[in-house]
Amino acid sequence: MPDIKRLNLITYLGRYLSIFPASVSLAQEVCRGEGKILLGAEMDGVPCGLLIADSQQDEKLLLEYIRINEDSLRMGIATALINACVELAPGRNLECHVTLVDEADLGLMRFLEKLGFEHVDSSDTVVIDRNGTTVRQWEDFMAAKGSGLIRRLEKKGLRVVSMAEAGKTVMSSLEKNLDGRFPDDMNPFFASHDILVDYSFIVLKGSEPLAYSIVVSDDGGKTAIVQFLATASDYVGSGVFFMCLASSISAFARGEQCSKVAYTVFEKNMEMRKIQEKYLAFKGQQFWRQFLFRKSGQFLAGAKLCG
Ligand SMILES: CC(C)(COP(=O)(O)OP(=O)(O)OC[C@H]1O[C@@H](n2cnc3c(N)ncnc32)[C@H](O)[C@@H]1OP(=O)(O)O)[C@@H](O)C(=O)NCCC(=O)NCCS
Repeated sequence: MPDIKRLNLITYLGRYLSIFPASVSLAQEVCRGEGKILLGAEMDGVPCGLLIADSQQDEKLLLEYIRINEDSLRMGIATALINACVELAPGRNLECHVTLVDEADLGLMRFLEKLGFEHVDSSDTVVIDRNGTTVRQWEDFMAAKGSGLIRRLEKKGLRVVSMAEAGKTVMSSLEKNLDGRFPDDMNPFFASHDILVDYSFIVLKGSEPLAYSIVVSDDGGKTAIVQFLATASDYVGSGVFFMCLASSISAFARGEQCSKVAYTVFEKNMEMRKIQEKYLAFKGQQFWRQFLFRKSGQFLAGAKLCG
């Protein structure tokens, strides 16, 4: 059986990173430190497996990376790593988001199923390049239809402001209105990365916020990620989301800063699926399918955690 060790940063960088080249951005996050759990598996003192999990969210532990050396597969090493990880977070759910890029991911999915993870949702991450074709497609759509839709909403007294120009009153009104009116998991004050304030918009009626699109970037502004697109519960189905979404996409089409825009749609989110088909089907866009697996927290016997 392998030794499963909790790694410190020095050991991870010195002995594991070259064998398991986790993605550059993940490695950078690990170096920043907070909340990462690093577990290494060793056979006779030689690293043969690595697991990285994020423990920052209270109710869950997010399994971000797991990989076993080619010559150590099917020996129960990944199972031992997962068991040790669950042991570190009793009572919490363990989640893993698998992005389907190649055949190896199918193996990972079979493995998670074998360990009792449940496949709870799927999503598509769509990435659109900013180029002559996509910009023209958006401008044509806005000229033919989009601008008219916005004018109709403006006649109903709605207006849209970017976060850059929103000011204190609008932002505190947004903060006050969040509870109960907007989905809990779309709180703009908990955006995961730097908010691009010129690309993020709030729809207002008077000073009351009705919808928002929050755009962030985790690569210094090269890629604009639409992280939250939310409508107040009493305005769902009224089309107000379109004002902020269209403003964000227009800012992207106009601006020079971001060369790509990305957003994620969950399979079960039928409303967003319709929006996607109707307004966001760009030529040449790329899709990454992601599968969300979850395992309810429980103590699993059998793993030995040393170091
Ligand atoms: C998936 C992976 C972690 C499994 O590691 P492992 O140490 O070989 O797994 P285990 O030996 O603990 O397997 C436990 C069970 O899971 C299932 N399983 C594991 N790998 C599987 C595969 N490739 N196909 C189908 N089932 C698989 C089997 O039922 C296995 O039990 P068995 O060997 O008795 O049949 C490993 O193949 C891997 O590192 N894959 C690459 C993952 C990757 O791309 N990670 C980076 C992004 S997160």
